[in-house]
Amino acid sequence: MTWSSMLKIVVAGLAGLSLASPIAQVNLRRGGKVTYHPNAERADAVKEAFQRGWDGYYKYAFPHDSLRPVTNGYEDDRNGWGASAIDAFSTALVMGNKEVVKQILDYVPKINFDQTSTEVSLFETTIRYLGGLLSAYDLIKGPAKGLSKDQKLIDSILEQATRLADNLKVGFDTPSGIPDNTLFFGPPRTNNSTSNGIATIGTLVLEWTRLSDLTGNPEYAKLSQKAEEYLLNPQPALGEPWPGLIGTNVDIATGKFLDGYGGWVGGDDSFYEYLIKMYLYDPERFAHYKDRWILAVDSSIEHLASHPTTRPELTFLAMFNNQTLMFVSQHLACFDGGNFILGGLTLDEPRYVEFGLELTAACRATYAATETKIGPESFRWQDNRLDPSAPNNKPAPAAQAAFYDEAGFWIDSSAYVLRPEVIESYYYAYRATGDPKYQEWSWEAFVAINATTSVGSGFSSISDVNAPHGGSFTDFQESFLFAEVMKYAYLIQAEDEDWQVKADHTNKFVYNTECHPIAIPGGGERRAKKA
Ligand SMILES: *[C@@H]1O[C@H](CO)[C@@H](O)[C@H](O)[C@H]1NC(C)=O
Ligand SMILES: *[C@@H]1O[C@H](CO)[C@@H](O)[C@H](O)[C@H]1NC(C)=O
Ligand SMILES: *[C@@H]1O[C@H](CO)[C@@H](O)[C@H](O)[C@H]1NC(C)=O
Ligand SMILES: *[C@@H]1O[C@H](CO)[C@@H](O)[C@H](O)[C@H]1NC(C)=O
Repeated sequence: MTWSSMLKIVVAGLAGLSLASPIAQVNLRRGGKVTYHPNAERADAVKEAFQRGWDGYYKYAFPHDSLRPVTNGYEDDRNGWGASAIDAFSTALVMGNKEVVKQILDYVPKINFDQTSTEVSLFETTIRYLGGLLSAYDLIKGPAKGLSKDQKLIDSILEQATRLADNLKVGFDTPSGIPDNTLFFGPPRTNNSTSNGIATIGTLVLEWTRLSDLTGNPEYAKLSQKAEEYLLNPQPALGEPWPGLIGTNVDIATGKFLDGYGGWVGGDDSFYEYLIKMYLYDPERFAHYKDRWILAVDSSIEHLASHPTTRPELTFLAMFNNQTLMFVSQHLACFDGGNFILGGLTLDEPRYVEFGLELTAACRATYAATETKIGPESFRWQDNRLDPSAPNNKPAPAAQAAFYDEAGFWIDSSAYVLRPEVIESYYYAYRATGDPKYQEWSWEAFVAINATTSVGSGFSSISDVNAPHGGSFTDFQESFLFAEVMKYAYLIQAEDEDWQVKADHTNKFVYNTECHPIAIPGGGERRAKKA
């Protein structure tokens, strides 16, 4: 399909959609002149929660990976290199928490990235450890300069990031250059896996490119960008059911797609996210990534946008298997609103911002409907346009029919594991519009998460968002509580700073998928070219 025929279809598709609030539209038309409303009291309350979780971790789990807050124990679920400490690093920096910054900075040179007793996920290690270290380095060399003057320790952040990547790079040593996501260390080697997925292949390029830009060694960028090429030019046709929307699993030997199954959900999500973030990072080097993002979001608006029968004003994105839709989504997928908004700001396309605001409002509906006021891990709905007797458009199960009537979705998986994506989208919505409504929504979510998941020495995942007190505690505090939930909940209430997302093409940082701000080369000066 040609570009211009695509556009016509997209415009025709958009005409039928209800668009966002007048406030947002007015702000966007004013050319990104957005007024923010910092709330010091709320920002301080988030800092307090961060400190409480950190103190529990530092006392009972550090330098292990994760706190078990109910039993005051720990788990080494991320190779035992102190995942929570590295994930907390950039948050402590943006919060100006000097004491925690010092605790982490003192620890960084002591990590032994050459050894671990368990398998290493290239993706998880990249987004949490590599992203966390590079972000801390960028912040402490930049706008958070005042928080440490110890040059030797600061240099060790980049040295340790490089050492880690030098161990991880064996992952790319495959016939196609598509990495094996499963590695072993001591010495570094791959699992000889036969396939990998688009999220785990396509969510390396920001961190690995940044490492090359900081060290002057182009190898890291080249490895990650070569792998990405297979996702930008998917083969065979099975791998691209609609322009820009691609399958999930890729054959590591040949680079060929193995299915046409996907969406904006876990396993696919941050592949799409990084397409536009790479363009924001460097519009010259990554123009092609931006073109692919535009195709993906235009196809999503045209083909995946779906409205529940009981609440047609809500907009979710469906999953697909070839061109058959599945009306299911996830907490993880709720980053999509924020990503559409960031892309709309970057490309001066208000319709992407407005669509992103719609997605954000629907994700809020998953929070508003439950007993705890926290949204579930996954949820389903019945599409209001497709035949209700179609095999892929089943009604709600009887036990949830009343809930579905009110809520517009029913719960598929009821857990909450301290995920950030809904607050993440509120953050982008707020930074794009300045509308205090999004600060309210974020505050409500933060208060609910704080009230329901606080236990023992920190915060715990819970079993059921729709049961009193969240059902039961699973006694586990994910490291991304520090990196993401605490950071987005804080930044949306905080003063404007260099690391905040900007609505007017002056971004100095772009956030990796773990919410670690990465410095944009020449950021704040260069205006991204129009699409
Ligand atoms: C992967 O294959 C290589 C070469 O055949 C072999 O030496 C290595 O042990 C294999 N790795 C694993 C984890 O099986
Ligand atoms: C390791 O490789 C084997 C053989 O290809 C594969 O069956 C297995 O799923 C891989 N393990 C992981 C964790 O990817
Ligand atoms: C998707 O398309 C491929 C190739 O046309 C086909 O082999 C496969 O069965 C299809 N899958 C479904 C679920 O329709
Ligand atoms: C968060 O929870 C703690 C512990 O229950 C409580 O002391 C604090 O007041 C709560 N903060 C907010 C803003 O609700």
